[in-house]
Amino acid sequence: MTDTTTTATTGPAPAFGGNAGMSSQYLEVRDLRVSFDGFTAVDGVDLTLLQGDLRFLIGPNGAGKTTLVDAITGLVPAGGSVTKSGIELVGKKVHQIARLGVGRTFQTASVFEELTVLQNLDIAAGAGRGALTMLRRRRTVEPRIDEALETTGLAALRDTQAGILAHGQKQWLEIGMLLVQNCDVLLLDEPVAGMSHEEREETGNLLRRIGGERTVVVVEHDMDFMRAFATSVTVLHGGRVLSEGTVEQVQADPRVQEVYLGTAAAADTTTEETDDARTR
Ligand SMILES: Nc1ncnc2c1ncn2[C@@H]1O[C@H](COP(=O)(O)OP(=O)(O)O)[C@@H](O)[C@H]1O
Ligand SMILES: [Mg+2]
Repeated sequence: MTDTTTTATTGPAPAFGGNAGMSSQYLEVRDLRVSFDGFTAVDGVDLTLLQGDLRFLIGPNGAGKTTLVDAITGLVPAGGSVTKSGIELVGKKVHQIARLGVGRTFQTASVFEELTVLQNLDIAAGAGRGALTMLRRRRTVEPRIDEALETTGLAALRDTQAGILAHGQKQWLEIGMLLVQNCDVLLLDEPVAGMSHEEREETGNLLRRIGGERTVVVVEHDMDFMRAFATSVTVLHGGRVLSEGTVEQVQADPRVQEVYLGTAAAADTTTEETDDARTR
């Protein structure tokens, strides 16, 4: 087992409205639109995502959550605007957006299975560096890699091959890879899908540790997980923002109960089947 109680980072806790005051970094999404062959998957979304506000993005299957993340990170062409600290992201390439500190994870973890945890982090940290520089740097572990190992609770597993990590640990490694890339906007697509209860708890604590000083968006199906860790919630439905606010505000919204909470409650009592029609 990993010990996630010993962490180097003791920053501010995430809070509704963010916690960085006037110096807050934020991501501003305005009238974002994505269409596939005439079908509008994201239909004019506005979002203001503040540093230190742990935002959950929920909504039924097909609501456009993954497409929204894809659009922000440059994986699908979009109309409208996404600015990070005033810099327009729409129209930029995937690697340019990543270099501006906007990172994401996929529903299926995409780590290098045959490499160790440390090697995975090293490669992520070296993104944009020449191969020679990377080889030279390999002899010592950079502070930010050490810090990511601590933060994600993977320090004891640094020399373990990523392919044999538990499902949860792979997701944490992916988050660690974003941290060493110095991402300060993290978009996590269903990070706890398929995780055990214990892994969910540990993931929630990890999100709290990293969410205080960053802008973190968690796409999620698990309502219990959302209630436990979200500081704010946006509900997406049919490609549009249906509701937004604190967990309490969103849960009390009759429109949300009608289109989402009703179906989620029904699904909760059946199986853990939460996969999208389109999984990655
Ligand atoms: N590449 C694509 N081509 C065509 N339709 C797509 C594509 N990606 C997503 N869609 C459609 O867009 C809608 C939103 O999908 P998605 O963003 O994956 O929803 P969510 O993540 O909320 O479940 C769905 O109707 C889906 O079928
Ligand atoms: Mg999805």
